[in-house]
Amino acid sequence: MTVYQNLIGGVWQNSESSRRVPNLNPADSDDVVGEVPLSTRAEAEAACAAAAEAFKAWRAVPAPKRGDLVTQAARLMTERTEQIARALTREEGKLLAESYGELGKTIKIIEYAATEGRRLNGATIPLELANNFGYTIRSPLGVCALITPWNFPVALPSWKIAPALVSGNTVVVKPSTLSPETGRLVVECFVDAGLPPGVVNMIYGSGSEVGATLIDHPATRAVSFTGSNEVGNDVYVRAARRGIRAQCEMGGKNPVIVMEDANLDLAVAGTIQGAFGSTGQRCTATSRVVIMDQVADAFLEKLVAAISTWQVGNGLREDVHMGPCIDANQMEKVLGHIASAHADGAELLYGGTRLTDGDLAKGYFVAPTIFDRVQPTMRIAREEVFGPVLAVLRVDSFDQAMTVANDVEYGLTSSIYTGNLNYIFRYVDEIQTGMTHVNSPTLGGEAQMPFGGMKASAVGPREQGSETFDFYTETKAVYIDYTGHKREGRMY
Ligand code: UN1
Repeated sequence: MTVYQNLIGGVWQNSESSRRVPNLNPADSDDVVGEVPLSTRAEAEAACAAAAEAFKAWRAVPAPKRGDLVTQAARLMTERTEQIARALTREEGKLLAESYGELGKTIKIIEYAATEGRRLNGATIPLELANNFGYTIRSPLGVCALITPWNFPVALPSWKIAPALVSGNTVVVKPSTLSPETGRLVVECFVDAGLPPGVVNMIYGSGSEVGATLIDHPATRAVSFTGSNEVGNDVYVRAARRGIRAQCEMGGKNPVIVMEDANLDLAVAGTIQGAFGSTGQRCTATSRVVIMDQVADAFLEKLVAAISTWQVGNGLREDVHMGPCIDANQMEKVLGHIASAHADGAELLYGGTRLTDGDLAKGYFVAPTIFDRVQPTMRIAREEVFGPVLAVLRVDSFDQAMTVANDVEYGLTSSIYTGNLNYIFRYVDEIQTGMTHVNSPTLGGEAQMPFGGMKASAVGPREQGSETFDFYTETKAVYIDYTGHKREGRMY
């Protein structure tokens, strides 16, 4: 049985903790992939101390050179794609094709971050005084704590590690205990690229012990977190108490708006991909359709016809369209949301149950589920499900569509299907989401675009794209006086 090891100061080592949790294949809980230690606070502190020690030399490595090492990590990940994709599907449950998709996107994110090492520019700023030169440089922060979830266990650690390192920081990664193997495989790509010991450290454990210790450690200067709103809010408060930087990317209740002139086939295809791709376990997943009543019946007929062709099952099988929920706990949460939708009077159009036929009984499978005639006040319209459940809300006008779409505490992504330019531009102005799409699914985007988020979906500077380097560096303002004499006439 594999027991996952922590990486502290360049040495892979067993945790001294005897507390462990099994890493199960969510498509087949008889398949135990390994055991994850719940490491101690002392081990988390040791990882921070190792990162602080390594920072002294790493910060002095020129940024383009740091970028070269990160490029090498992308090469190694490319070579290891098949191995990592298989491990990802086995422990997270997503389809093999989805795992390959995640790997492909991750490699682009790492490559993009690596080349920024050649563009970590400051600015030159004209000064009032003659023979004085003013400019800014970007300095690394120090140790960064990177706390990542199970649903994109390749992409999310990478899109934090790569820019953090290129900026000159050292990191301690805490991957989710539900995806420890891919966490290790990702970190190995960086280590094997030739990073000095201690530049990347990894520690398995709980958020309440290991996560909290990483944030509280005096050497830690920033925390980047992706996960639920509840935990993210705690992370933000904890970081604020120490006055360190925090970046939290959290949940969504992302709407697709379908207007009366929409290409319904396109809207159906985009909605299905957004709602049920990755089993809906994606912060950018589509969880609401806000649709003009006059086209709702036609849209839903096509939607149900399309989803009824889907096979649910083990993601390693080629004929499968959707995998399981990550674990029993998550499956129960999803079933609880389904029960609440029934209780609140929503109309079930498709799915709505756990699937237990044959081998499916060994996994945590829930049917793709669609509720019609959902009201904005219902729980299913307001709370993130993080599973394959779609709520359909019918409206009568563009204005009503916008009101309903914006009437949630989240503001991550959104989409509209229409060919009407007036709708498109008004929508882009009025929708309260940090990322938005026109005639395409609500999902995340390309490496060089910022990963948006408004309202309670994100706090702190945005991840991804060049903006992420503003998070991982601080700006130093420099004044060089080359007059050679004492300043006259300026007393401040
Ligand atoms: C994507 O939609 O491409 O946790 C990525 C999540 C997001 C990543 C989504 N932070 O689902």
